[in-house]
Amino acid sequence: MKIIGPFTQILPLTGLPEKGPISDEQLTIIPNGGVLVDAGDIVTCGDFEELRKAHPTAEIDKIDEPMVLLPGFVDCHTHICFAGTRSRDYAMRIAGKSYLDIARAGGGIWDSVTKTRAATDTELMENTVARANRHLREGVTTIEVKSGYGLDMASELKMLRAIRTADQYTPAALVTTCLAAHIRPKDFDGDEKAYLRWILNDLLPVLKEERLTERVDIFVEETAFSFEASRPFLAAAKAMGFQLTVHADQFTSGGSAVAVEAGALSADHLEASNAEDIRRLAASDTVAVVLPGASMGLGMKYAPARQLLDAGACVAIASDWNPGSAPMGDLLMQAAVMSAAERLSAAEVFAALTIRASKALGIRSSAADLQAYPCSDYREILYQQGKLKPSFVWKNGERI
Ligand code: NIG
Ligand code: FE
Repeated sequence: MKIIGPFTQILPLTGLPEKGPISDEQLTIIPNGGVLVDAGDIVTCGDFEELRKAHPTAEIDKIDEPMVLLPGFVDCHTHICFAGTRSRDYAMRIAGKSYLDIARAGGGIWDSVTKTRAATDTELMENTVARANRHLREGVTTIEVKSGYGLDMASELKMLRAIRTADQYTPAALVTTCLAAHIRPKDFDGDEKAYLRWILNDLLPVLKEERLTERVDIFVEETAFSFEASRPFLAAAKAMGFQLTVHADQFTSGGSAVAVEAGALSADHLEASNAEDIRRLAASDTVAVVLPGASMGLGMKYAPARQLLDAGACVAIASDWNPGSAPMGDLLMQAAVMSAAERLSAAEVFAALTIRASKALGIRSSAADLQAYPCSDYREILYQQGKLKPSFVWKNGERI
């Protein structure tokens, strides 16, 4: 047993509503708090001195400065397993070049596919570990990581195996997702339906066999996969036992309806969601994952997070960290900046980065994944818009 503390404030973020708006008044704030940890799990949080009296033999992980303790963040949507950069795309985009201009110049997702296919498994693994460790230092203790820059048997397997191995080399917990349905690869001989059939019939059984992932994602969009092709693909993946998530409503509406209909755990992006999409998401169990980093990277508007919450949706915030649309990958900074534009309360932001993001991954954990910020009032964290970073991070009760 171990007691970590004392903290000026602990925000356990438990007991908050799963869906809809949350006001800061609904937050439980424990002053002079401590956390009792046993075998890597949180046993309880409470007054530090009382915990000490109740558990006199417990080891003390002593905190000597004013600190605010939060649960570790969960980044429920990333593409951090990739090789190369797309800085040329970015330069073209900020200089006003169109999506088509960039694609014609050899940019876009296909460029990252080419570079990722050419990378060794070690290189991919090391890139993933380095990015996961950066995230971990910034308080992100659980990270979803997608494939989707392989798009053939060997390269999708290479990516998913690299993520699995990376999970052993970073203290952060990695959750893998197969995004072979990212785009139809240029070298695939056949239409989108044939490609999705290939994923279902050839790739997914191998992923099951090797236990490489339990999650399947698809990019539903005019430039990626159509609604007609996506619906049966998702139903078949679900019938095989995979959990579903969807890249939905990024540029055009429609994908979120497909996600809800398929019973997906989450529908992610939602920049182009309309009133009907918002209502449908709010009425469903599908988590609405908004990705401010993609809005920032593409210079586009944010997803309607405020409207989603007011309609009653479960809103999570993720980084979408990827080489193309969201290269920055600073989850807290993105969430903080978006919260000012969308008018999200601190309680809504912190829930979106923790309990609601866990729901998007279908996980529930009592692990002592914690982060302590060098301040005395939790409101300082979003106020500093991501520049205030945690001084200490714990994964399974161990200080990193
Ligand atoms: O989530 N929208 C599709 N896929 C990624 C972008 C990936 C890339 O550009 O490499 C996204 O934004
Ligand atoms: Fe994405």
